[in-house]
Amino acid sequence: MTDVCSVYVTTPIYYPNDKPHLGHAYTTVLADIAFRWYSLIGCEVLFLTGTDEHGLKLQREAEKHGVDPKRFVDSMVNIYKEYWKLLNIRYSRFIRTTDSDHEETVRHVLNELYGRGYVYKSRYSGWYCTGCEKFYSEKEYFIENGKPLCPIHRRPLEFIEEDAYFLKLSAFKDYVVRILREGDTVYPKHYALEVLSKIEIEGLQDIAISRLKNRVYWGIELPFDPQYTAYVWIDALLNYLSGLGYPRNTDKFNKFWSNSIQFIGKDILWFHTAIWFSLLAMIGIPPPKKLVVHAFLTFKGQKMGKSLGNVVSIDDMAKRYGTAEAIRFIIARISNFDKDSEISWDIYDSIYTNDLVNNYGNLVRRVTTLAKKILEGIVEKDLDTDFGQTVSEIRDKAIESYNELKISEAVKHVLDIAHETNAYLNKKEPWKSSNPRPTIYTSLEAVRISSLLLYPVIPETIEKLFVAIGIEIKKGLEQFNMGFVSRYIIKESPILFKKID
Ligand code: MSP
Repeated sequence: MTDVCSVYVTTPIYYPNDKPHLGHAYTTVLADIAFRWYSLIGCEVLFLTGTDEHGLKLQREAEKHGVDPKRFVDSMVNIYKEYWKLLNIRYSRFIRTTDSDHEETVRHVLNELYGRGYVYKSRYSGWYCTGCEKFYSEKEYFIENGKPLCPIHRRPLEFIEEDAYFLKLSAFKDYVVRILREGDTVYPKHYALEVLSKIEIEGLQDIAISRLKNRVYWGIELPFDPQYTAYVWIDALLNYLSGLGYPRNTDKFNKFWSNSIQFIGKDILWFHTAIWFSLLAMIGIPPPKKLVVHAFLTFKGQKMGKSLGNVVSIDDMAKRYGTAEAIRFIIARISNFDKDSEISWDIYDSIYTNDLVNNYGNLVRRVTTLAKKILEGIVEKDLDTDFGQTVSEIRDKAIESYNELKISEAVKHVLDIAHETNAYLNKKEPWKSSNPRPTIYTSLEAVRISSLLLYPVIPETIEKLFVAIGIEIKKGLEQFNMGFVSRYIIKESPILFKKID
């Protein structure tokens, strides 16, 4: 691993029509963990998240509340920021599509697209879902009582017909197919294959990128025709570029774009592949380095979301476990790129109790207590190389998992270290031994390494722990070596996680 790397981690920008729920936290926490992992190993990392504020959905939500859209989104954005603070999300920038630099980037890109001949005017008609901000084709929507329904929101679609500006995506079909087939941008790869088969069946159609301003006034005006606003998805996708100062700050852009890692849920895969890759190619930009796609949190098999009324709130979880950090841990543990995870308090409680309280938390308490009782808290370096080797092997697997962004696997390896160390203590019984120091020192090192590995997941807890055991968290991989610490001075034996009632 190099310590001169630069990484750009992003989340989707969320519609601030309501407060974030566990589904939004899922993506944001995973991206934050990746961001913190790269920082921990010494990379220079930028982490962008934010809100997607324009379009018909937000316009209508504001109208429903009887306020001007800007005032409405301003208030919602503060709520988003509070939740991200609660969850210890350490973004470098919170981007809003109403930020003036973002709007400027959008106008610049729209002018470029127009100037390069990728935009033309024609008539459009189709069935639209405001929830998704997307037109659905006949093959995609359901029919119920003779009416087309959105496959995601299960609400009636609206028929829209108007003159519109189109983007020539069709000209980039071969390009997108090549990237999806040959490249390794989309991760896991099967999502690339899904998009490929959709393109095979439906082709890659041009899309309408404008909305008549007298219908959708809440958007960025097209620089080449003030009667229209920009389609909200084009506006939103460009946040990943404006977040790097594109097109003004070329140094920053060049440095980070080639190492961009975009986290998304599978619901917005099409936008982030077929549309996004074509749009980028039109302005001469390669696709992001990685598009990390995760599956859904589901409730009775259906995607959890506000419109289906099956939302798990961040507040309920924080209350249940007494700490928002437990939510981060649970998300990391259940995260799954391939398969949907069904929401279950039984599973969440058992992760909290078994993994955090009984396994890892108990180990920390046990080892630090032994160090204080048996060695008065002062433990000089004295490594048991056999057990040191066992821990190092599992640590390597955890590091590899993190580097492949397999966060749940990384966490499982950490729990293995904790489990092994508890078993090691049971076997060695340092409380009976005439030479307890190697066992205690080596167990402390195992605690330190498992905690460093958990630092991206539960940062606040680990910072407190490291203060208690007198260790500073550094940057770089060297600190992950067993035997790195020459002497421990243990101040406290903390109880990191309390049992739930
Ligand atoms: N505004 C668009 C994204 C524009 S990005 C250029 C949008 N916003 S959203 O508010 O609907 O949030 C979508 C994202 O939230 C999903 O892609 C996913 O990452 C996350 N999730 C929302 N509900 C979720 C689940 N039930 N399960 C997992 N993730 C979910 O789409």
